Amino acid sequence: MSMLPIPVILDCDPGHDDVMAILLAAYSKELDLKAITTVSGNGPIDKVTQNALRFCTLAGLGNIPIAQGATHPLIGQSHAATEIHGESALDGVDLPASTIVLSQLSAVQLMASIIADSPAPVTIIATGPLTNVAQLLTNHPELHSRIRSISIMGGGTERGNWRPLAEFNIWFDPEAADIVFSSGLDIHLCGLNITHQVLITPEIFLRLENIDSHLSRRIVPLMKFFAHAYDTTFNMPEPPLHDPIAVLMVSRPELFTFAHVPVAIEKDGTHTRGATVIDLHGVTNTPKNAYVAIGLDVPAFWDLMIDAVAAISE
Ligand code: BDR
Ligand code: CA
Repeated sequence: MSMLPIPVILDCDPGHDDVMAILLAAYSKELDLKAITTVSGNGPIDKVTQNALRFCTLAGLGNIPIAQGATHPLIGQSHAATEIHGESALDGVDLPASTIVLSQLSAVQLMASIIADSPAPVTIIATGPLTNVAQLLTNHPELHSRIRSISIMGGGTERGNWRPLAEFNIWFDPEAADIVFSSGLDIHLCGLNITHQVLITPEIFLRLENIDSHLSRRIVPLMKFFAHAYDTTFNMPEPPLHDPIAVLMVSRPELFTFAHVPVAIEKDGTHTRGATVIDLHGVTNTPKNAYVAIGLDVPAFWDLMIDAVAAISE
């Protein structure tokens, strides 16, 4: 008996690694990608939405509804990550103009209607700041029981990137992250402790180049731009491909080791706003609210990611 694919919504801020998450979500047989929603993060909302539309046009994903979400975090201003993703938030290659029509619904409206109408509970995969997801949970308490899980790329057990102890997605909107982590829903988190093991090495570049399709010929320069940015900013010539790992936690959880632990979001902190305080050893004696990834079969991920790129062969 074959299992039905898990309905998922991908909430993202494309973003070099976000577009790879879109591909993995769209081409994982375990998943049914119901919608893509965008959130301000790596770039302003209009730019990240355009990137989603144009990338999906390139990748032949015109049948997936795309809706635009929050223009700024719950409190304060947006900050584009131009150092990492460039002015367009997806620099490195010119993508074709979009032939996809943006949904008339907002991100939260589209998420809510999909979750309300789905016969099976829906999983939300979040690869940007958690603003839209927090608004959904706040505005639609009646839908909580229809949400199977929330799979998040953010934070980390040890370190940050945008700040010494804060990772970009959580740092961008800590109030939203706090709402999500306090929701009582099933939360799976992959942070920098895992994604910094998922490096685009020269061998991975070779495998991408060897696909030699219209898609891979654009993905390679995108990833080269990302590699150059990581080298310049973080002295990491092999950049980490963060966001597809949040997809993989849903499609192939058996490839991970998880710790069920308390996670708190630092909202104040003179130097640590946006830090994920992950209590791996139970020293705070607080309730366990998240499954935090602490191990991953990295080669198995790359086989699946490369297969997703190769799924479009012409
Ligand atoms: C996260 O921040 C963004 O730059 C990436 O797209 C990823 O979601 C990594 O800290
Ligand atoms: Ca992202």
